[in-house]
Amino acid sequence: MLKIGHRGAKGSEPENTLISFQKALDMEVDGIELDVHLSSDGEIIVIHDETVDRTTNGTGLVNALSCRELKALRINEEHQVSTLREVFELVNQNCFMNIELKTYETADKVVELIEEHVSEKNWNYSHFLISSFDWNALQQVRFLSDEIQLGVLTETDLDLAFAFAKFIKAKSIHPHFHLLNKENVLKIQEKGIQVFPWTVNEVEDIAKIKGYNVNGIISDFPNRI
Ligand code: G3P
Ligand code: CA
Repeated sequence: MLKIGHRGAKGSEPENTLISFQKALDMEVDGIELDVHLSSDGEIIVIHDETVDRTTNGTGLVNALSCRELKALRINEEHQVSTLREVFELVNQNCFMNIELKTYETADKVVELIEEHVSEKNWNYSHFLISSFDWNALQQVRFLSDEIQLGVLTETDLDLAFAFAKFIKAKSIHPHFHLLNKENVLKIQEKGIQVFPWTVNEVEDIAKIKGYNVNGIISDFPNRI
């Protein structure tokens, strides 16, 4: 059962920062989950919200700010917003990266960065798993690449996610953990698709979800898995 750190190790460090990803690596995760948007000048920025307001000392839409302007902001007074390229450098193949596309526009850029790492830097497709609630974005990734692993995110409709996952040849479905039971997990797995629920934080919930034999768990506290 894979141990996947949500936004790094969000339970211990500021989400989606290099220190959070390092903390997750220290916890010996199998993978880290992170979120991406584009800056106004087309850099892939690792941040959850469409604005910088909640997580930094700035205000405004991520896609209205340049990478340089985003880098000038501070998270908890000391940390910087990171680009996806910087996270790749930090992780350095030590775990896989579940990259959640927060907007359709990120799809082409993320595929390009992955292809660069596979063809020029000796990375493997197994180091990457792209997920999204925006299924059009997933379809765009599949249009661009037969090789990149996809995860279908859903908060509401497991059956629809299952049908779509088969259609786009996804590796996995990433459901809110409340949607799961032992039977529906098995039904999905029998079709060769893996199940990675989120965001499972409480020890009792982790124990219950483990009992469903899911393939991995996405948690703010990966050390609890
Ligand atoms: O990828 C699972 C989970 O991160 C999806 O929800 O809002 O935390 O990005 P959210
Ligand atoms: Ca996410």
